[in-house]
Amino acid sequence: MTFKPATWPRKLRSQEWFGGTGRDAIYHRGWLKNQGYPNDLFDGRPVIGIMNTWSELTPCNGHLRELAEKVKAGVWEAGGFPVEVPAFSASENTFRPTAMMFRNLAALSIEEQMRGQPIDGAVLLVGCDKTTPSLLMAAASTDLPSIVVTGGPMLNGYFHGERVGSGTHLWKFSEAVKAGEMSAEDFLEAEQSMSRSTGTCNTMGTASSMASMAEALGMALSGNAAIPAVDSRRRVMAQMSGRQIVQNVKDDLRPSYIMDKKAFENAIRTNGAIGGSTNAVVHLLAIAGRVGVDLTLDDWDRLGRDVATIVNLMPSGDYLMEEFFYAGGLPVVLKHLGDSGLLHKDALTVSGQAIWDEVKDAVNHNADVIRPVEKALTKQGGIAVLKGNLAPKGAVLKPSAASPHLMQHKGRAVVFEDIDDYKAKINDDALDIDETCIMVLKNCGPKGYPGMAEVGNMGLPPKVLKKGITDMIRISDARMSGTAYGTVILHTSPEAAAGGPLAIVQNGDMIEVDVAARRLHLDVPEQEIAARLAAWQPTHDQPPSGYAWLHSTHVEGADTGADLDFLKGCRGAPVGKESH
Ligand code: FES
Repeated sequence: MTFKPATWPRKLRSQEWFGGTGRDAIYHRGWLKNQGYPNDLFDGRPVIGIMNTWSELTPCNGHLRELAEKVKAGVWEAGGFPVEVPAFSASENTFRPTAMMFRNLAALSIEEQMRGQPIDGAVLLVGCDKTTPSLLMAAASTDLPSIVVTGGPMLNGYFHGERVGSGTHLWKFSEAVKAGEMSAEDFLEAEQSMSRSTGTCNTMGTASSMASMAEALGMALSGNAAIPAVDSRRRVMAQMSGRQIVQNVKDDLRPSYIMDKKAFENAIRTNGAIGGSTNAVVHLLAIAGRVGVDLTLDDWDRLGRDVATIVNLMPSGDYLMEEFFYAGGLPVVLKHLGDSGLLHKDALTVSGQAIWDEVKDAVNHNADVIRPVEKALTKQGGIAVLKGNLAPKGAVLKPSAASPHLMQHKGRAVVFEDIDDYKAKINDDALDIDETCIMVLKNCGPKGYPGMAEVGNMGLPPKVLKKGITDMIRISDARMSGTAYGTVILHTSPEAAAGGPLAIVQNGDMIEVDVAARRLHLDVPEQEIAARLAAWQPTHDQPPSGYAWLHSTHVEGADTGADLDFLKGCRGAPVGKESH
């Protein structure tokens, strides 16, 4: 889409509240003046909502109050009027049953905050996994000019001289304890070393992946994704974004101009190159659904196949976000994609420039962190979308985090009916399982958990770990933390709780996985599958009330982004009726 800046000056939507001399205008202005705002702030300049997901219970975003001050400084400098607004903050590490259940609630609440208040444009202050997609979904649905500023990753963690990554080493160390290779005391001592500073997970987990997605979509200023939370350049980025959003409101540069199909294709290829999280799949599908872009799981498979994973970061590789920043960060990756013919160079960004103009001069300062294609972690990165009679609507796997010897495998199913069943059985040495089996977990999808928890990377049984085995095929309708790894098949759709074929897998069934052929097959006669499906009954009760009921009743499948059906699409930001 060719973008032509709007004329300026013109009347902005905030003037529907603040303009004029009538009773309502005085009501809207007068009460705000109790905060000491001079009258000329209401003269028609852009009002910028700083939508802040700061919360002391979202530790990854715990520093965003200070960062908001830098955004405000930028907005003031550019002649805007900044107002900081608390936004629903779904923390990955504290919210139960899972932060994912609240991504859509956050998106809904922030969308209405943006639409229902005198806001002309927004800076989205985000960081922890779900906060980035939820605010992007809100921005897409309101289509108000918006810029993403992420809080940035934590500094590197170190334990006993070894680099330790958020999440990645939690899974590794916990398996090592189970295998008897690490003491419980060392495990506890490692806890503090994993989180050395403010910021998000320092691996290429979901937070870093979504920060990269925001930048690749063109919704953040170039270079935003990798700057560490405590680096002074993070604060500069916040201030520059504050300046930029004022211009974008004047130009009327809206998300729908930026997030077109080309932008999503750039983001998908970027996710392949960085070895990004499988969670990016559901989030990008959901954001695309809000902005009206036709994006499917097949796009993920098609676009990711030829993208080599060149960013050597945990969980797929060796380094952490701090080193990615020092190497040049995402602009280097985007330049590589552009040089390889894998980037829509003319895609528009929030800077008002094409993405290629932002990255064409990027320099790689460390060829072991951002590798040349000849030394890629995997030649075919991206996300593999498997289909078959076990996943008619698809399931996903991250090849760069999987074991090559398991990419084609036939094994006996060991079934866990839900996460409680898994926890009750997995440590029992009497469990009939070995490393050739395929672990199957049901009822952990969007409806089933409810909320599609990150439990798909089930820990292996201790008796297998003690043999030195570190990976087995695992299949579920759940998600997996972006910091996790293994041959883990996720998002199996339709999910078990919706009566998908996963629901009728039984212990002892044989399952075939062939990643190269994109095949996921339950080796049971068709008539038998049909009979089991006909006899299937839901095993879990629908939540009786509250948001859990709303979510379970209206959530769509993972294959289309797990959004609530009534929230899809762009509703814009009409100013509505006066409040009095
Ligand atoms: Fe918040 Fe990883 S848990 S960013």
